Amino acid sequence: GKGEFDHFMLKEIHEQPTSLAQALEGRIDPENERIALSDFEPGTFADVESVQFIACGTSYHAALYGSLALNQAGIRSTALLANEYSVSAPPVDDDTLVVAVTQSGETADTLNALRQANAEGATTVTVTNVVGSTAAREADQALFIRAGPEIGVAATKTFSSQAVMLLLLGQCIAADHHGEPPADLEALLPELAAMPDAIDGLLETSEADALAEQYAHSQSYFFIGRGLGFSVALEGALKFKEITYEHAEGFASGELKHGPLALVTPETPVFAVFTGEEDEKTLKNAEEAQTRGAPVIAVCPDDHRAVDVADEHLSIPETAPDLAGLLANVQLQLVSYYAADLLDRPIDKPRNLAKSVTVE
Ligand code: M6R
Repeated sequence: GKGEFDHFMLKEIHEQPTSLAQALEGRIDPENERIALSDFEPGTFADVESVQFIACGTSYHAALYGSLALNQAGIRSTALLANEYSVSAPPVDDDTLVVAVTQSGETADTLNALRQANAEGATTVTVTNVVGSTAAREADQALFIRAGPEIGVAATKTFSSQAVMLLLLGQCIAADHHGEPPADLEALLPELAAMPDAIDGLLETSEADALAEQYAHSQSYFFIGRGLGFSVALEGALKFKEITYEHAEGFASGELKHGPLALVTPETPVFAVFTGEEDEKTLKNAEEAQTRGAPVIAVCPDDHRAVDVADEHLSIPETAPDLAGLLANVQLQLVSYYAADLLDRPIDKPRNLAKSVTVE
């Protein structure tokens, strides 16, 4: 049941410290600076030259997160919408690893793309929540995110666990490919281990409910970010539109001036996600919206320069650069939840949507 919570979505947001701890259990060893994914012995990915991630919806945003992190680790990779794969897949060969990211393991679009990749001779892995799912059976190997059942149609805890597992997988691929662990692994592991506590603290102190109340009657909601923060901006907007039924869009912060800025008014709050990737530029982009009257909400640590510039602030704990976006995402999950609740939407079952989309 929902226990003390009004909705499964809120319960699942609050389960993230536990679900992440479960995902990480036995898989990271900060003391010895190692990652151990039991089904993937060191060397498994030695021949991988490039990686394609395929997924839909929220899982696509996690895939984008994993793909950007992998590029930053020096491995050629790309995230592709599974429903576009049949018409736009880049060539695969036997050095290509294709990673299907799917919470349910039953999404028709993702299964089709996975089957195509299998038929073309790629090595395939699925990152999924469901043991025994079709994706787990049909991919060469499966990596389970161990998030526990997710009842709310809006994916929350599974996004966080997917992104974290993709970061771990990416570190293993990069280590095998380069013959040594990535330089930032040593700094990343203790911060990964600290994630459950960091999210706990964030959930306890979040002011997302008050913020949602302040802006619940706006015209449109924009989310901007750069790099890993861009995938979080896309995810923030998807969650917001899915459960509030209000118009929301995510943009790469640098894209704002290439068109979307025409939509910006005092009625369009802009959530700016800061992940330490050229934050100065993102701040400048946010200020361009602010100049047009839009309220800017900075999602960043307390001592960040953006706090002084922005109209409002949602706080995230200090962490490793690869993880800041995931903490920001939890604040955005809460904003969406509280905005939808104020608007009296059926949060766990939004109209027209299904938890598992088994048609093309
Ligand atoms: O089960 P999957 O991860 O393959 O599902 C993919 C999407 O349908 C899913 O993430 C959808 O976008 C979420 N309901 C969004 O919250």
